[in-house]
Amino acid sequence: MRAVLLLSTGWAGMQNAAGRIMRYLTAGESHGPALVGIVEGLPAGLKIEEDYLQRQLARRQGGYGRGGRMAIEKDQIQFLAGVRFGRTTGSPLALMIANKDWQNWQEVMSPHPAAETDARKITCPRPGHADLAGGIKYFHRDLRNILERASARETAMRVAIGNIAALLLNHFQIRGAGYVCALGGVEAAPRPPAWGVEMIRRKTVSSQLYCLDGEAEQQMIAAIDRAREEGDTLGGIFEVVVEGLPPGLGSHVQADRRLDGRLAGALMSIPGIKGVEIGLGFAAAAKQGSEVHDTMRFAAGKRISRASNHAGGLEGGMTNGEPLVIRAAMKPIPTLQKALSSIDLATGKTEDAAVERADVCAVAAAAVIGEAQVAWELARAFLEKFGGDSLLEIEAGWRDYQQLKQDYLGGGS
Ligand SMILES: Cc1cc2nc3c(=O)[nH]c(=O)nc-3n(C[C@H](O)[C@H](O)[C@H](O)COP(=O)(O)O)c2cc1C
Repeated sequence: MRAVLLLSTGWAGMQNAAGRIMRYLTAGESHGPALVGIVEGLPAGLKIEEDYLQRQLARRQGGYGRGGRMAIEKDQIQFLAGVRFGRTTGSPLALMIANKDWQNWQEVMSPHPAAETDARKITCPRPGHADLAGGIKYFHRDLRNILERASARETAMRVAIGNIAALLLNHFQIRGAGYVCALGGVEAAPRPPAWGVEMIRRKTVSSQLYCLDGEAEQQMIAAIDRAREEGDTLGGIFEVVVEGLPPGLGSHVQADRRLDGRLAGALMSIPGIKGVEIGLGFAAAAKQGSEVHDTMRFAAGKRISRASNHAGGLEGGMTNGEPLVIRAAMKPIPTLQKALSSIDLATGKTEDAAVERADVCAVAAAAVIGEAQVAWELARAFLEKFGGDSLLEIEAGWRDYQQLKQDYLGGGS
């Protein structure tokens, strides 16, 4: 009897760690008919709050400094499969977001050979974009075949998918928020330690740049206006904070299970992100150990209390029970109205790079995408630990873990 029990527990664990990892795929070109997404591995019974998802999509479209495209689109999620009467069924989810702008691009983006045209063909790659490397890699003479997919338009679907993952985390009182901490060289005042997720949400909702520091925000807006006048672009830094995480998501035992690496990868996969830091990040390198590591003590009720959170909620590749604090740096937008020097692959001559309609700055939107990417990776780690086919099973695993953790800490005295 005991052997059977152990066997069944072991099998369930293997399923969680390897067989049933949540995954997604997206497809869609910037000016194609639609973006589509498929998500597999979500448990049955999760409530899909469409209003919440729509609000996140609207936030991604916002932020001072965006180009004309965002005025055309009004992103609207359609569920094609996997949701019934407002709850997930456990089947793969299929989502669609239509591109309104496609109306203006039907001929240029036609899938039919008879419609082939040189209209809007691009042969001058933009420095800083996928155009050149992608053109050589796939041997495309028309670089539009690369830039249509490399465009950050795809991140609309990632925001939808990541926020479905956030709904799962929210169910277990795990909540995150992102904000802009620097833009175009203007740095906002550091976030006061007492300002957690609730405060970030409250402050950013009325901010044009999802920034916590009103004075710095005015300087950032002025910097964007200047860059626009000069035909130039700007980048910046955003931070994502997540509260309510249990200790033990991710693992130290294998390189690809370390959550710090996975989260960094998730943020680095956002187009334009060039650096990620966790907690003190790069600043830790110049400090002494005694200034960096977060001392611990037992507080009332065997609660663990840390004097600081320089580790940003991750130690040994695992969550440690403190809030996750992660930042990402975005390079300036590579499409400049004051075109950069490039080459024409058709003529072999030096020419100006192609100029598409473009954002002057998209760091605020990137913060929303960052929240979604972080939520996705945390939800995957959460399901690896507490996974099951239904929300009911996950709730049971979650309750057990809370109790066992309490017993473990109580037993240590
Ligand atoms: C929300 C968002 C909006 C963006 N808007 C534009 C844009 O309008 N024009 C552009 O050239 N790049 C834009 N980018 C940046 C490019 O997608 C990115 O710099 C490019 O894909 C190359 O980045 P990589 O070298 O990190 O792949 C945007 C990025 C994000 C995250």
